[in-house]
Amino acid sequence: MNLLKRLFSKTPMSRSSRAYDFALEHVLNLPAEARILEIGTGQGFSAAYLSRRLPQARITALDVTYECFKGDELGFGSRKPDFVQASAPQLPLAAESFDAVLLVMTFHCLPEPQAVIREAARVLKPGGSLLIADVNGHHWMKRPFEWVEHLGISPLTHAYTPEELRALTEEAGLRDFRVHWRPGKENGFMLWARAAKAG
Ligand SMILES: C[S@@+](CC[C@H](N)C(=O)[O-])C[C@H]1O[C@@H](n2cnc3c(N)ncnc32)[C@H](O)[C@@H]1O
Repeated sequence: MNLLKRLFSKTPMSRSSRAYDFALEHVLNLPAEARILEIGTGQGFSAAYLSRRLPQARITALDVTYECFKGDELGFGSRKPDFVQASAPQLPLAAESFDAVLLVMTFHCLPEPQAVIREAARVLKPGGSLLIADVNGHHWMKRPFEWVEHLGISPLTHAYTPEELRALTEEAGLRDFRVHWRPGKENGFMLWARAAKAG
């Protein structure tokens, strides 16, 4: 693992916890026992956080690698997530099985973005939601962010604009695309894009 990756693997993703809170409180409307797929769980902080925040939900946490994963020290909720090692463009998961698919600070570094969105659409139940919380491709920090990522995290990193995300989700048959911003942070560094599968 290179130096930057090692550094990131030691840093709790507090910004991501706030991103999940905003998504759960203001963007998604999930039943208590929702089935949720999180793509790119990383160290596992996010899956652990979700399992504490939504104790009745069934969470599947997927990542292509578990080299940064922290394990049981994370403090899971009463219902521990299922962990799946796989690559997002080919999900080894049944069609129409999730109420929500979440990608928090992950979509920017994935290969084959259109295939990822198609796969997310495939595994969503009718009426289910895809949520992408990520760096806003129109923000002035986009270039420095991509530059640091290309330097040592991922050569694939691209901060998507709302227009690019809309096109990708609509091509995959999702609808009702909308970008949400935290109050007072309109057009800020982080955007929350939601699209739904027809119910
Ligand atoms: C910046 S981390 C975000 C982690 C977590 N969502 C959070 O907010 O704390 C991005 C994650 O995407 C994962 N990832 C990269 N390529 C992937 C792929 N092809 N399929 C699934 N996950 C992938 C990385 O391994 C990493 O854990």
